[in-house]
Amino acid sequence: MPKSGHPYNNRVLDGKDEWLTPPYILDDLGPFDLDPCAPVDAPWPTAAHHYTIRDNGLLQRWFGRVWLNPPYGSATGVWLDRLVAHGRGTALIFARTDSAFFFRAVWEHATALLFLRSHLHFHHVTGERARHNSGAPSVLVAYGMPDADRLAGSDLGGKFVPLVIPRSMAVVALAGEPSWRDVVHSVMRNERGPVPLDRLYQLLADHPKTRSNNHWREKIRQTLKRGPFERVDGGVWQAA
Ligand SMILES: C[S@@+](CC[C@H](N)C(=O)[O-])C[C@H]1O[C@@H](n2cnc3c(N)ncnc32)[C@H](O)[C@@H]1O
Repeated sequence: MPKSGHPYNNRVLDGKDEWLTPPYILDDLGPFDLDPCAPVDAPWPTAAHHYTIRDNGLLQRWFGRVWLNPPYGSATGVWLDRLVAHGRGTALIFARTDSAFFFRAVWEHATALLFLRSHLHFHHVTGERARHNSGAPSVLVAYGMPDADRLAGSDLGGKFVPLVIPRSMAVVALAGEPSWRDVVHSVMRNERGPVPLDRLYQLLADHPKTRSNNHWREKIRQTLKRGPFERVDGGVWQAA
C-alpha cells in the first residue's frame, strides 16, 4: 500500500460528491469485487468490498473487478488513472469526451464505452432517487476485455462503442449488436411455435451474446418476461 508522500496522498478528500449509482446499473453489470470510493453509510453494496473516504481509496490496494463512480470535477481524472493502472473494471462518468482526462485515461486505455441514452437520476445516501436528473450525459467505460463484453451484452440502453474489438465480437460489433429481445425473437420465429425454456437455452448457448455474459440464462428469462412474449404453459413460451 502506498505510504505518505505517494502522489495520491492528501488528494480528493473532500467527499462532497455523494451521488450514488442507480442500483439497476449495478444489477445489470455486476457483481464487482471492489468499489474504491463508496459512501461511508452506503444504502446498498456496490461491490463485495468497499473503501470509503475514511480509508482514502486512492491509498489502498485495488483488486479484482472494480466498480468506479468516482468523485467529480478534477478528481475524476485521478481516479480514472488509477483504474487504468489496475486494468480491470468499469467506470461511470460524465461523457465529457473532450476533456484532458477523457483523452488521457479513456480514449487511450479503455476497451469499450456505453453511452447511456438518458440523463441519469443518481441517488442520495439515504437511498432516495434524486428528483432531478444529472443534467449531463453519462458514459460507462470498460477496462479489460471481460468488462467490454459485459457492456456489449448490457440491456441498459444506449450506444455501445468498442475501442478494441476482440475476434469473438468482431462480426457482431461490425453488424451492430442485436438486443436480447432480437436474439430471443429470432430463435422463437425459427422454431415456429411454443418453445420450452430448456430448448431456448440449448439454442442460444453458443450465441456471442451468451458467451459474453455469465448470467445469460437469467437474461433470457428477463427478456421473456419483458415481452413481447407470453407464457403458454409452465416453462413454455411463444412470441406474442
Ligand atoms: C459519486 S459518489 C459514488 C459512490 C459509489 N461509488 C457509487 O457508485 O454509488 C463518490 C464517492 O466517493 C467517495 N469518496 C470521496 N473521496 C474519497 C476517497 N478519497 N476515498 C474513498 N472514497 C471517497 C464519496 O464519499 C462518495 O461516496
